[in-house]
Amino acid sequence: MEKHEADEKTHIVIIPFPVQGHINPMLQFSKRLASKGLRVTLLTTTSNKESLQSETNGVIVESISNNLDVASIEALVDRFKTVASQSLPEIIAKYGASGYPVSCLVYDSVMPWALDIAKQLGLTGASFFTQACAVGAIYCNIQRGLLSLPLEGTTVSIAGLPTLSISDLPSFVYDRESYPSLVDRVLDRFSNVDQADWIFFNTFDHLEEEVVNWMASQWPIKTIGPTIPSMYLDKRLTDDKDYGLSLFKPDAAACMNWLDNKQIGSVVYVSFGSLANLGEEQMDELACGLMRSNNYFLWVVRASEGSKLPSNLKAETSEKGLVVNWCPQLEVLSHQAVGCFMTHCGWNSTLEALSLGVPMVAMPQWTDQTTNAKFVVDVWQAGVRVKVNEKGIVGREEIEVCIKEVMEGERGKELKRNAVKWKVLAKEAVDEGGSSDKNIEDFVSKILCT
Ligand code: UDX
Repeated sequence: MEKHEADEKTHIVIIPFPVQGHINPMLQFSKRLASKGLRVTLLTTTSNKESLQSETNGVIVESISNNLDVASIEALVDRFKTVASQSLPEIIAKYGASGYPVSCLVYDSVMPWALDIAKQLGLTGASFFTQACAVGAIYCNIQRGLLSLPLEGTTVSIAGLPTLSISDLPSFVYDRESYPSLVDRVLDRFSNVDQADWIFFNTFDHLEEEVVNWMASQWPIKTIGPTIPSMYLDKRLTDDKDYGLSLFKPDAAACMNWLDNKQIGSVVYVSFGSLANLGEEQMDELACGLMRSNNYFLWVVRASEGSKLPSNLKAETSEKGLVVNWCPQLEVLSHQAVGCFMTHCGWNSTLEALSLGVPMVAMPQWTDQTTNAKFVVDVWQAGVRVKVNEKGIVGREEIEVCIKEVMEGERGKELKRNAVKWKVLAKEAVDEGGSSDKNIEDFVSKILCT
């Protein structure tokens, strides 16, 4: 791979929204830029910084604000804006004074205020979308009035996308009562995006071809994903193993030792990411469904969710299951014992499963997950989706049936084959000369010339 001359003066600052699912892809992108000879500083909150090494694979990590003690995502969006928009210009000025002037600010697309700061300071501004291009296109259509809210009818047609049921749209769109203010905050990312010099999506061209083409006809967007450390995509490589950040403490040895003793494709890996909260009844049905499927299962239940586990589920000690608070997900998905991923379809989890060739049982909870689940089943054909019953939960029989569909029989084999097809294409995209690699190279060479 072509290496650029290391130029300490070419300094990029990267600022993700400070939650796990947004930091992971932006940190990986930072590492990729650092590996190409740029000086890269990632800014995050003090407590997140404590979970990271101060320098991880060439990326310098710095704290931009104190810990933000807030009760909701809406409040976090607002609080981070207030705090970080004050300190960001000061930090950038400090770098300039200490001989490391900043040329470019890569900001999480949910923080459009950061682009205003970049422009005021005369910096190149790059917006980073941590969600699927399809999801970006849906929000873009709403923001431009091409799709009006409240929605009417049962389906919607959007350029570059298959026909979508209302419930396939992001939940902020069809369930505005539950999330009255979130949709506005999410749409805000388009308010100034015309002024961005670069717009990155953590996806790859083959995966979302039509919608990527449509978005590219609106803005000069660039796909740069999947942002997964290359050693997971190519077993011959030995670069760094982690995402470099876990806001939760993983039980790595316990998970990997347990998986090592299981046969190929015999384990269902279950996780709902870093934010989703399942109700107690749903946890009960899930536990029963997993037991009924009669497969081994590795279930991530965050400590804050632990009290909802049914008391009769002695999964930790049962022969069939292991319950942990957090795991090294990429290592788990890469393990040959894992046959299926029961997932909430957060964008990172979806992309990770596809890139590592693991078929899915999609159980979306909120935000973009409903749209991702639609694509997993109908477009990428790499999984099945559970049906929600009249009580608004997914029953144990349904869970059992869906798991068996993925783990067993001809259908299971077909889903696995499809998942592996995406794994091959994901690797091609990030390999030297692949679509995402070329886009990153192009960005780096232009930044080095500014
Ligand atoms: C959030 C949103 O919920 C999601 O829909 C959006 O697309 C991104 O932001 P989150 O719910 O945490 O993210 O899900 P996801 O996007 O899947 O990100 C979770 C990350 O944590 C993944 O990178 C995954 O590998 C990692 N993880 C998860 C672990 O490392 N260990 C675990 O045990 C669980």
